[in-house]
Amino acid sequence: MAKHLYVCVSFTISFIFIQLAKADNYIVHMDLSVMPKAFSNQHSWYLATLSSVSPNSRAKTNTYIPFSKLIYTYNHVIQGFSASLTPAELEALKNAPGYVSSVKDTTVKVDTTHSFKFLGLNSAKGAWPVSNFGKDVIIGVIDTGVWPESESFNDNGMTDVPSRWKGACESGSQFNSSSCNKKLIGARSFSKGLIAHNPNITISLNSPRDTEGHGTHTSTTAAGTYVKDASFFGYATGTARGMAPGARVAMYKALWEEGAFTTDVIAAIDQAITDGVDVLSMSLGLDELELYEDPIAIATFAAIQKNIFVSTSAGNEGPDVETLHNGTPWVLTVAAGTMDRDFVATLNLGSKGSVNGLALYPGNFSSSQFSIVFKDACDNTTELREITQKMVVCRDPDGDDSLNDQVNNVHLAGNTAGVFITNTVDISVQTPFPAIFLEQKDGDAVVDFIKTNTDPKASIEFKKTILGIKPSPRVASYTSRGPSYSCPSVLKPDIMAPGDSVLAAWPTNIAAARVNDDLVFSNFNIISGTSMACPHVSGIAALLKAAYPDWSPAAIRSALMTTSDQIDNTGSLIKDIGDNLQPATPLAMGAGHVNPNKALDPGLVYDATVQDYVNLLCGLNFTAKQMETITKSSSNNCSNPSLDLNYPSFIAFFNDRDAKPNSTAMLKFQRTVTNVGDGSSTYRASVTPINGLKVTVEPDVLVFKAKYEKKNFKLSVEGPRQLNEAVSFGYLTWEDSGRRHVVRSPIVATSYKIEK
Ligand SMILES: *[C@@H]1O[C@H](CO)[C@@H](O)[C@H](O)[C@H]1NC(C)=O
Ligand SMILES: *[C@@H]1O[C@H](CO)[C@@H](O)[C@H](O)[C@H]1NC(C)=O
Ligand SMILES: *[C@@H]1O[C@H](CO)[C@@H](O)[C@H](O)[C@H]1NC(C)=O
Ligand SMILES: *[C@@H]1O[C@H](CO)[C@@H](O)[C@H](O)[C@H]1NC(C)=O
Ligand SMILES: *[C@@H]1O[C@H](CO)[C@@H](O)[C@H](O)[C@H]1NC(C)=O
Ligand SMILES: *[C@@H]1O[C@H](CO)[C@@H](O)[C@H](O)[C@H]1NC(C)=O
Ligand SMILES: *[C@@H]1O[C@H](CO)[C@@H](O)[C@H](O)[C@H]1NC(C)=O
Repeated sequence: MAKHLYVCVSFTISFIFIQLAKADNYIVHMDLSVMPKAFSNQHSWYLATLSSVSPNSRAKTNTYIPFSKLIYTYNHVIQGFSASLTPAELEALKNAPGYVSSVKDTTVKVDTTHSFKFLGLNSAKGAWPVSNFGKDVIIGVIDTGVWPESESFNDNGMTDVPSRWKGACESGSQFNSSSCNKKLIGARSFSKGLIAHNPNITISLNSPRDTEGHGTHTSTTAAGTYVKDASFFGYATGTARGMAPGARVAMYKALWEEGAFTTDVIAAIDQAITDGVDVLSMSLGLDELELYEDPIAIATFAAIQKNIFVSTSAGNEGPDVETLHNGTPWVLTVAAGTMDRDFVATLNLGSKGSVNGLALYPGNFSSSQFSIVFKDACDNTTELREITQKMVVCRDPDGDDSLNDQVNNVHLAGNTAGVFITNTVDISVQTPFPAIFLEQKDGDAVVDFIKTNTDPKASIEFKKTILGIKPSPRVASYTSRGPSYSCPSVLKPDIMAPGDSVLAAWPTNIAAARVNDDLVFSNFNIISGTSMACPHVSGIAALLKAAYPDWSPAAIRSALMTTSDQIDNTGSLIKDIGDNLQPATPLAMGAGHVNPNKALDPGLVYDATVQDYVNLLCGLNFTAKQMETITKSSSNNCSNPSLDLNYPSFIAFFNDRDAKPNSTAMLKFQRTVTNVGDGSSTYRASVTPINGLKVTVEPDVLVFKAKYEKKNFKLSVEGPRQLNEAVSFGYLTWEDSGRRHVVRSPIVATSYKIEK
C-alpha cells in the first residue's frame, strides 16, 4: 500500500538535547553474555550503556537516566534495544562493552466469501473438520489494527480463551479493554518508534483500533467467523468467513497512518512471542537487505526458535524478477494469485445482444437505455465535456499506456458511463463512476454496433459476480518474484494463495469506496495484493497446527508446499499474467497454489531444525557478529556450514558468465524426508524432464517401515555452466503405491545472478 512508503524523516530532539546533532532511531544488538553481574536485568544494563555514551545529557544532572533515548528493550526478537542516537552517540556506542551491531530504523512496506470454496474447504470433510476449523490456535497479526465491532469477530459458540494465553486487550482512544472477546482475544499497539521519529506527532487514534482497514481485512481473512449476507455493494454476495473460523486472533498494531517503523514492528513480534501466539501473519516487508540487517528476518528467527509458524507476503513489485522481500529461509513467503471469480457488468445492446466486462462500480446505476457514442482514444477533453446524457466508448490502442488518461478524461467530463476497450485490465478495479472494461473482441462488436446504427442506445447492469472463471488460478502480475536477495540458495517464494479481489471485513467508518465525490461505507471491502494472500496461508497453517500440534514450522511449511497445485481449473499448468500467460515458473508462484485439504495429509515432510538454519548462516560466510545478531548466541556451531538447507524445493544456479563454451557443471543437493503417513510405505521418485538439464535422484526408491522414520536422498542437476534460458524448471515427485500421497517439489535452474 503506497500509504506506507513513507520517506524516513529524522528530527532533532531539540527540546531535550538542544546542542546535539540530528538523531536517528537505531536497533542495537548486544551480547547479553558479557552483561556485568551488577545489573539485575538487561533493561538496566542498556540504560546504563546509553547513559555512558551520552556525555552531554549526563552533564545536565548526575542522576540522568536517558529513558527518552531508549525506545524499546526487546526480550525475544533481538538481544538489545532500540534508541534515538546522534552520530556521535552511535560511534561511542560501538565501543561500549557488549555492542554487537546496529541498524538504522526504516519504514516497512505493507504490501472472503469465496476464497474458501475455491480452495476446496468444506465443512463436511477435509481440512476443516479434521482440524476442528483451527480450534484454539492463536494467530497473531502484525498490521494496522482492528475493528472489533466487525461481525467477523463475533465469538458466538466459542469456548473460553485457552489459559496459556498471556496477551491483553489494551484500551486507548476509542478502544476499550472490553472490545476483545473469545474470537479477538488480544489487541495491542506499538507507537514508540513512530513517536521517537517525530516527537511532535499527533497520532489520530492512539489505540489498537484500525484507522485504515488493512488489518481488519487481513485478520478476518485468516480467521474471521461466519457472516451471512456479506457483500461489497452487491458484489461477492454470500457468507463470509476466514480460512480458520475456529482460530483466535490477536492484533498487534504497528503500522500507523502516520508511518510504519521496524522498531515498532519488531516490538510487536516480541510481544506476540511473549503472549503465546502459534502463528504470526505479517503482510509487510523490507526490500534488499542481508539477513543480518533485516530486522524482520532477525525477529522471526526468535519466533521460529519458539516453534511459531511465520507467514509473510512476497511483496507487490512484480512482474520483474528479484523483487521479492521476506526471502528468509525460516519463514513462509506467499505470492498472490487470482480466484475463479470475476466482478462484471453487462452492457446490453438491445436486439444485438449483450457483452460482459470487468467492473466494480459500487454505486447504483439507472436501468434505462442511453445513447452510446464511440470516441476512440478519448483524448479530446473539450469534446468529451460537450457530450451529455450519453455513454462514451473509448479504445486503448495496443501497447499504449493511455488507459488511465482515458478513464480520467471520461470521469472528469461527467459522461453517463465509460466503456473502455482494453487488453491491459485483468482484474476488476473500483471506479468512482460507472465504468466497464471490455476485451478487444467484445469491444469490436460494440464499436460495430455503434457504427451501423443511426441512433445507437445501450444500458448497463452492474453488480454481477461470476464464478467458475477459467483458467484459474493465475499468477497475479504484481506479485514479487524471486530469487531471494538475502538467501538465493533457498528458492522463493514458497507458495501462492488468493490475493486478487479478496472480500473481507472492513471498518464501518472508513470509506470502502468512492461514488462520484461521495465516500461510501461498507462492512466488507474487496482489495488485492500479496497482503491478502499471506493471511490465507496463515489461516491454513493454523488448521495444520490444530491437527498436528507437535509439528515444527518447517514441517508445516513442507506440507503446504509439497501438496500444492501446479494445474489450473482447465487441467493446464498455472499461467502467469505477468509473463504473457506463459506457464508460471516457481520464481513467480513457488511450489504451487495452496491446497489445504491435501496439506493435511502430506505423506512425507522436509523438516528443518534451528541448527539447520544456523548451518545455512555459516554457509553464507557470515561473521561471528552477524551470526550473533540473528541467533542471539555468541557460540554458534559452524562445524557443518551448508547453503543446502533441507527444503522442499531446489534452485540451481548456472550463471558462470566466464564459462568455456559447452562446459558443464553438476550441482548437488542432499535431502532428508520424514514419513508422517501411517506405518510402512514405499515411495518412488520421478522427475519431469527439464530442457537441456539432466536431473538424477539417488536412491529413487525409499522404503519406510514406520511412522516418523527418516530417509536421505541426493538430487543432482547437470547442465551448462552458463544456462541459455533465464529459467528452466521441472518437478521432483515422490509417490507411494496407489498415489495415496504425492509429494512434489519444484526444481529451478537459472542463469540469474543476484548482484549486491
Ligand atoms: C468503553 O466502555 C465504557 C463502559 O462500558 C462505555 O461507556 C464506552 O462507551 C466504551 N467505549 C467504547 C469506545 O466502546
Ligand atoms: C515540536 O514542537 C515544538 C513546540 O511547538 C517546536 O518548537 C519544535 O520545533 C517542534 N519540533 C519538531 C521536530 O517539529
Ligand atoms: C443504492 O441503493 C440502495 C437501495 O436503495 C441504497 O441503500 C444505497 O445507499 C444506494 N447506494 C448508493 C451508493 O447510493
Ligand atoms: C477537440 O474537439 C473540439 C470540439 O469538438 C475541437 O474544436 C478541437 O479541434 C478538438 N481538438 C483536437 C486536438 O482535436
Ligand atoms: C564462503 O567461503 C567459502 C570459502 O572461502 C567459499 O568457497 C564460498 O563460495 C563462500 N560462500 C559464499 C556464499 O560466499
Ligand atoms: C557441532 O555440531 C557437530 C555436529 O554437527 C557436533 O558433532 C559437535 O559436537 C558440535 N560442537 C559443539 C561444540 O557443540
Ligand atoms: C558446442 O556444442 C554445439 C552443439 O553440440 C557444437 O555445435 C559446438 O561445436 C560446440 N562448441 C564447442 C566450442 O565445442
